[in-house]
Formats: sequence, structure tokens, C-alpha cells
Amino acid sequence: MEHQLDQIDSEARRELEASAGDSQKLQALSVKYLGRKGVLTQFLRSIASLPPEARPGAGQRANAIKQRLAADLAAAVEALAMSGRGATPPIDVSLPGRALVCGALHPITQISGEICDIFSRLGFDIVEGPEVEKDYYNFEALNIPPNHPARDMQDTFFVSEAVVLRTHTSPLQIRTMEKQPPPVRIIAPGKVFRCDSDQTHTPMFHQVEGLLVDENVSFGDLKGTLTAFVHQMFDEQTRLRFRPSFFPFTEPSAEVDILCVICRGQGCRVCKQTGWLEILGSGMVHPAVFENVGYDATRYTGFAFGMGVERIAMLKYGIDDLRKFFENDLRFLSQF
Ligand code: PHE
Repeated sequence: MEHQLDQIDSEARRELEASAGDSQKLQALSVKYLGRKGVLTQFLRSIASLPPEARPGAGQRANAIKQRLAADLAAAVEALAMSGRGATPPIDVSLPGRALVCGALHPITQISGEICDIFSRLGFDIVEGPEVEKDYYNFEALNIPPNHPARDMQDTFFVSEAVVLRTHTSPLQIRTMEKQPPPVRIIAPGKVFRCDSDQTHTPMFHQVEGLLVDENVSFGDLKGTLTAFVHQMFDEQTRLRFRPSFFPFTEPSAEVDILCVICRGQGCRVCKQTGWLEILGSGMVHPAVFENVGYDATRYTGFAFGMGVERIAMLKYGIDDLRKFFENDLRFLSQF
């Protein structure tokens, strides 16, 4: 029995060596020794007829030979494939390519870019400024002195007594006018922060600020510019209305509403049955603001406006929960 196994073993090795470069021979070898009617398989079956005390030894030996042969055969087949001479080439050039999974811009980035594009075409330059801002730029220079009740409208995060996380992008109005004489025509996109969190508020959100200053700028220019913007952002049919409002840094001030994009004025849940949706704040630059930056308020006039990017994205895409933008759920984000 021992002798028979030794013979099978050395014979198999010899044949393997002789077949190494030929995949068909390797395949035949596998059948000859390991197949259902293979030499080793039959030997293992025949163990049952041995005397009981001889069975374990013979079984172990035969199994060891079988396993080693299987491993050697597999290695030989692989070596052949790697060398490029095997029956199946290592690279199947007829397979379809694997599609690349591509990332995309976040919907807020996309909308912010769209807003900037529209105003760029109208001749506005894009400027940016710090998110951690001095109280002076965020409030005081914008005609909001300490203890002014308007500070309450914005739930400010304070870094220190004189430094805040900016609550709006309006500080860019001051920073820009301090740097250059009129005429000014800028928009400023960026993150803003307010201590507020529910379905329609997140502690961080995005605004785009606009400022235009020159001689003879009128409220009519403000209306014309914002109307052109709304028509490009939504569509030519979108009606808008200017509603009197208050901001310390503009006088007169107006909030702009557009006819509800969901119900077209019929009244629905999104517009809270009013038929209108507020999209931005605006107004003529307050003379006190010009004074703070050293502009001659008797010679120059201007208008400013500020809008929430998330709000515009929600209206444009019909999304009802602001927090979706910040949960990083790819099933949501990949729809844009
Ligand atoms: N900064 C104001 C806000 O955050 C918006 C605004 C900007 C209003 C410019 C008027 C002029 O609500």
C-alpha cells in the first residue's frame, strides 16, 4: 500500500513537471489524478477494503498527496496565465469597462455658483471675506450700534466680545467700500452662522450679498436688477413683489417675494397659503453706512441685497427640509 502511494506520488510529480507550460496537459493531469474517477480518488475509495488498523495511515497519506498535488497544479495554471501563454489571457479586452464613480458639486455650491454667474453677466465682481468677523464689520459699521434692538434679530455666536461668527455677508459691503472708491459693483457669496436649528434653520447656512454704488443709482435700478436676476434664476414667468421692510443699513428697505413656484399663487403648504415666497432682503444703502466708509453720501447712492442660498435651492428643487443639505446622504445628494 505504502509502496503504491509512493509510486502515484512520484509519477504525478514527474508528469506535472513535464506539463508545466501547457494548460491542456495540466487540465488532463488534474482529471487523471483528482477527477471523479482519478487515480487518487479511486485509491481513497479503496481504503474501505483495507484492514481497519491500516486505514487511518493510508487515508492521511493519500489526502496529503492529493492536497499537495491540487495546490501544485493550481500554482502551475496560475504561473501559466501570468506568463500570458495560458488558455485564458490575463486581461480579457472584450469585457465592458468599469464605469468610474464620479463625484459632483454639492447642490448648495451649484446654486451659489449659478447666482454668481447671473450677477457676473450683469457686471458684478465676486469678493470674499472672513467667516470669523469683527463686531465692527458685522454690526457697527452697518449702522447697528451696541444695544441696538436689531442685534436681537440675529442669534449671534460670539467668539469674544469684539469678535463674532458673521451672521450675514453684509460685512463685505463695508470691507469692499473701505478698500476702493465708487463705483462699486460686487457680490459676495459665503457661509454665515446663527444660533438657530429646526426644519427651516441650520446654525450654518449660505448667503450671497450684493452691493452697487455709483452716482444716480435709484430704487428703480434695484428693482430692475433683482427682477432680471429672478427671471434668470427661475423663469421669465416668475412674478415678484417688493414688500416694505426694515434693515438698519438700508433705507428704504424691501423684502422680495416671488409667486410660489409650487402652487403659482393658489396657496399651499410651502407658501403657508399666502401664494408668495420670500427670497431676499434689499434696500438703498443708508447714508450712515456711506459715512462710516468715507463715501460722500450727497454724491453717491447705491443699493444692496442679501439672499439665502439654501432657501433658493429649496424653492428651485421643491425640497421641504433644509437639514437634508447637511446630512451628506448620497441618495439625496446624487440627485442633483
Ligand atoms: N443682511 C440681511 C440679512 O441677513 C439681508 C440684506 C442684505 C438686507 C443687504 C438688505 C441689504 O437678513
